Formats: sequence, structure tokens, C-alpha cells
Amino acid sequence: MNYTKINQNHLDELISIVGEAYVFFDKENIEKYSHDETEDLVFYPEVVLKPKNPEEISAVLKFCNREHISITPRGAGTGLSGGALPINKGVVLSMERFNQIIAIDERNLQVTVEPGVINEVLQNAVKEKGLFYPPDPASKGSCFIGGNLAENSGGPKAVKYGVTKDYVLNLEVVLPTGEIVWTGANTLKNSTGYNLTQLLVGSEGTLGIITKVVFKLIPYPKFNLVMLVPFFDTNDACKAVSEIFKAGVVPSGMEFMERDALLWGAKHIGDDTFQIGEKIEAHLLIEVDGNDFEMLYKECDAIYKVLENFNCDEILFADDQTQKDRLWKIRRVVGEAVKSKSIYKEEDTVVPRAELPILLKGVKEIGAKYGFISVCYGHAGDGNLHVNIIKNNMSDEDWNTKIPTAIREIFELCVSLKGTISGEHGIGLVQKNYMDIAFNSTLLTLQKNIKKLFDPNNILNPGKMFP
Ligand code: LAC
Ligand code: ZN
Repeated sequence: MNYTKINQNHLDELISIVGEAYVFFDKENIEKYSHDETEDLVFYPEVVLKPKNPEEISAVLKFCNREHISITPRGAGTGLSGGALPINKGVVLSMERFNQIIAIDERNLQVTVEPGVINEVLQNAVKEKGLFYPPDPASKGSCFIGGNLAENSGGPKAVKYGVTKDYVLNLEVVLPTGEIVWTGANTLKNSTGYNLTQLLVGSEGTLGIITKVVFKLIPYPKFNLVMLVPFFDTNDACKAVSEIFKAGVVPSGMEFMERDALLWGAKHIGDDTFQIGEKIEAHLLIEVDGNDFEMLYKECDAIYKVLENFNCDEILFADDQTQKDRLWKIRRVVGEAVKSKSIYKEEDTVVPRAELPILLKGVKEIGAKYGFISVCYGHAGDGNLHVNIIKNNMSDEDWNTKIPTAIREIFELCVSLKGTISGEHGIGLVQKNYMDIAFNSTLLTLQKNIKKLFDPNNILNPGKMFP
């Protein structure tokens, strides 16, 4: 699709809306906003805008609608599916000045926040009041709440506490046509009309620009226990996951790491002292939390009992906060570690939890068939496996021709197991050509029509999500 190229008149108009200090078209900024964390992809915008309030965004959207200029909204640029890449050039709309926590409502256990607040900043602010905002993507130290909303992000805590969508009560949104609306109510229950709030969550910046969000919060759990369980057999590690839930325990973290994932992660943070037995193929990092300390030990006992049925090596029980932090840090940097090692593609596969062993086995078989190695890790308790396909010495030709077919097979396997093609990273640019695996043409058309209804001129994050 063709979009209008931005000229001096357009720039003058944009400057009059957001102010000269917040309109950028110098080389350094154009480069800075040309990529996110998705593979090695780069697309240059023509101009970067940093508006401050919904009214400015409304004026920008009205203007771009009239002139048919493409707009790509952007949070912190930590996305893994290319959602923030300006593939049609035009405007990048950076939300970084929307950085206020507007109100923590201790009466109702809610918080109203702007989308440019960093996830961990929000977590810490509510924690000071004894409150908990659980969704915690690996990039929580830098990712924005707005990006979390756009992708419906998860993270390790999702297994017990749910993902971003589970905390969203109400959204202030600027629609592509410029209207500023609130989608719902600040209530825990709401049976009023279509659920536009939840439609906006996970819509990857294609339906509107979220300018405020009201989240529900929960009391902060007082205690946690963390253990790292080494397995001699990867299949055992995968199988143990669903058995632990069946034994009546819902851990607050249930992460799977193949041998290389853990090793690369430890190395990435310079933790050379980390010892892994020679024959260990995989680990589970398990956390339980709650307000009753005794109860947590009972839950650990229940977990140990389950693990007795599997071939595990000695369990590393984190004795203190330093040890817990170390284990979680290693887990959180695996993605970065993989990125720094090789060109790669990350698939965010997800299946019902008990199908995880079949998924992993299938991924390895597909790897053998197409000649790639993969490093797998992820949120095993959610059946959410990050499959990192490593390029290593593969020729460019094989990489470009064979891998898309292999990915298609992996996704077909997910769907055949009643899973789907993204659990928490979104579709964005890099998975859009696989959407036909998850949805038939009726469902794809229905979704595209929703997009048309919101954004008749297709100016908001065009070219994302749909093939
Ligand atoms: C993680 C990111 C990649 O789980 O989702 O580390
Ligand atoms: Zn993840």
C-alpha cells in the first residue's frame, strides 16, 4: 500500500501539534527508532514524534488520516515480533513521554497509569503500598506498559497470576479517526456490551493508541521459595510440569530451560561458576509463593514427591535472596544471550501444558529434517515454549528458503495440539504470514473487518498481524 511521503508542510503541521522539541528527523533518531528487539530487522521512519497527551495524539491521527500518512506506535522497543517497526516509513509515534503513574487507589486496589511507564517501575511503585502487579516479561526492567498491552505480554508469573489482559479494567484510547474514548468501567465485573477493552489488549497498535490504563492489583504475596531442578532427560522435564499441577500445586514460576539455554544465560551475565552436570539435558526453575510460609514448604514437599518419579539430579534450593535473584537473572537473560550468539529466529509456541513433551519432541524432529539446531526455553507451566532457531553455519539460502517451511511445520504442530502460534510476543511483522495456520479465512476476514471498522484508511500500524 502506498502512503504519503512526508514533506516540509507536513513537518510544519506536526511541529505545530506536538512542538518543535518533540519532532525528530535527524539521522541519529531515525536510526534509533528503526529497530526493536526483533531479530536483525531495520526499517527507517521519516519522522519520530513524542507527544505528551491524548489531545496531541488525536490531532496527529486526524492529520495523518487526512494526508494518508502511516503511523507506527512505539513503546520501549523491546518487542520480539516487529510490532514497532515502521515498515511503511511515515511517523513513529513514541509513547515515552506518557510516563506517569497517575494514581494508586488503595481503597479499590487499582492503579491508573500511562503507557510509557516501565513495567518494573510500576511493579515497584505498587509494591511500596503492599500491592502486586504480576505480569513480568523478561524485559520488565525496560519494557513499557503500553507495549505489554499491545502484545498482551506474559512472563514467568503468568502461570499463577495471568497475563496483562487479566489485570486490565479500563482503557483510554485515541481511535485512528481522532476520537478519545474510555472503553469500559473501573469495575472487576462488567457485562455491558461488547468487550472493547479486551479487544484493544493484544491488538498490537492496530486499532487505537492507548493513553491511559486502569489495572486491578492484588495484595503482594509475602514469601516465596525457589528451586532449580536438573533433569537427565529433557522429556522428563517436560512431563514433570503437568504432573506438578496435577498434584495440586500452582507454582508462581515454572520455567523450562534446555541445557544450552541455561549455560548461555549464565555465561551472558558472566556467571562462570555455574556448574551443570555433564549428563544434564534440561532444568525446571520452580517458584512457589504465598502468605503462609509453612504452606510453601508443604507445596515444595508435594513437588519433591512428584519429582521422585522422574530421573532428576540433585535439586538446587535457593537459600537466600541473592541465590534466588541469580537464578531468575540467568533465566531472564536467556533471550538476550541467544541474540548475542547467532542470527536466530524466535518462535513463541504455545500448547496446552500437558502437550509440551510432544511439542518439544516435534520441534527437534523438524530441526533434524531441515538441518537446524534449536535452543528451547520458556514458560513451561503455560505450555509456552520459546523455540530459538539458530542460524550458526547454515547458508543464507537454506536459512531463507528452508526455515520458513520448517516454522510452518512447527506452527502446524502447535495448532494440531490445540495450541497456537504466539503465546505472548504477538504476531506483528514476523509471524503474520503464518496467521492462516491459526485462523481460517472466515476468521481472518472477520478480524480484518474489525480493523477496517476502527481504521478505515489503514493508517495505524499498517502491514502488521495479517498476511
Ligand atoms: C522470555 C521472553 C523472550 O521469556 O519472552 O525470556
Ligand atoms: Zn517469555
